[in-house]
Amino acid sequence: MSGNRLSGKVAVITGAASGIGRGTAERFAEEGAKLVLVDNNEARLLEAAEQLKAGGASVVAVAGDVSLSETADRVLEAGRDAFGGIDILFNNAGIMPVVSVLDMAEETWDSVMDVNLKAMFLLSKRVIPEMLKRGGGSIINTSSVMSTLTEPKYAGYTSSKAGIIGLTKAIAVEYAEEGVRCNAICPGWVDTELNQRLAVELGGMDKLYPIIKQQQPTGKMATVREIANVVLFLASDESTAITGASIFADGATSAFI
Ligand SMILES: NC(=O)c1ccc[n+]([C@@H]2O[C@H](COP(=O)([O-])OP(=O)(O)OC[C@H]3O[C@@H](n4cnc5c(N)ncnc54)[C@H](O)[C@@H]3O)[C@@H](O)[C@H]2O)c1
Repeated sequence: MSGNRLSGKVAVITGAASGIGRGTAERFAEEGAKLVLVDNNEARLLEAAEQLKAGGASVVAVAGDVSLSETADRVLEAGRDAFGGIDILFNNAGIMPVVSVLDMAEETWDSVMDVNLKAMFLLSKRVIPEMLKRGGGSIINTSSVMSTLTEPKYAGYTSSKAGIIGLTKAIAVEYAEEGVRCNAICPGWVDTELNQRLAVELGGMDKLYPIIKQQQPTGKMATVREIANVVLFLASDESTAITGASIFADGATSAFI
């Protein structure tokens, strides 16, 4: 499947070395976008960039920690230098510490807030002026079904993902008239390394699958490509009526008692 739904558009994608970010980079490239890929795993980021370039995509890679202002500065520079600006920002990098409130170190709380939430503010702050110069743009922030539903040991993660919904609405409202849209996606279970690591913590995939079957009415994880297709819709001009929304791509998890 390929087309021109993002033809000529410049898209920044964070967390692009793996999972949802990498899958979305592939999907965006298929639709003609030029890509600025960001991740703190430099080796895997460069491998992803090379693979996309080999397929004919225009790609620059920025290795760095998204929670740092200097990374956001370099992302902006890369978008301007390589492609003359930025139209789409997919704020997607995230971490998921699994630890109870009482056992959580202050540093763990700070890092999940910084990587999952503050980074989205830092990049939006730099990219929105570029979008305004171009007459508009689309920001998509990866939240989670865990923004509104949670379970023990996810206080940091759930708080950060709920904060993303607030930031998304605030940006949407502030820049709606100028054509900068901002939406959140809230995936349920998705088949990525994030959950492979969780399975290891729980003692193997055999322990994880019954939980997925019980929580997600579809009975299975979404694929990265299924989530990337939702992000593509929000990035494209097909969704110009939608801003400030949280789209639950969760296999009915949030509808289930
Ligand atoms: N997989 C799921 O079931 C699921 C469900 C809901 C939401 N999410 C969210 O989707 C997003 C992507 O997760 P994924 O499942 O693809 O995970 P993943 O672990 O496969 O990919 C995350 C990527 O983010 C990068 N990253 C982490 N910290 C970073 C930092 N400080 N700076 C730059 N890059 C950093 C990692 O190196 C990795 O490449 C996350 O925000 C996650 O919370 C995932």
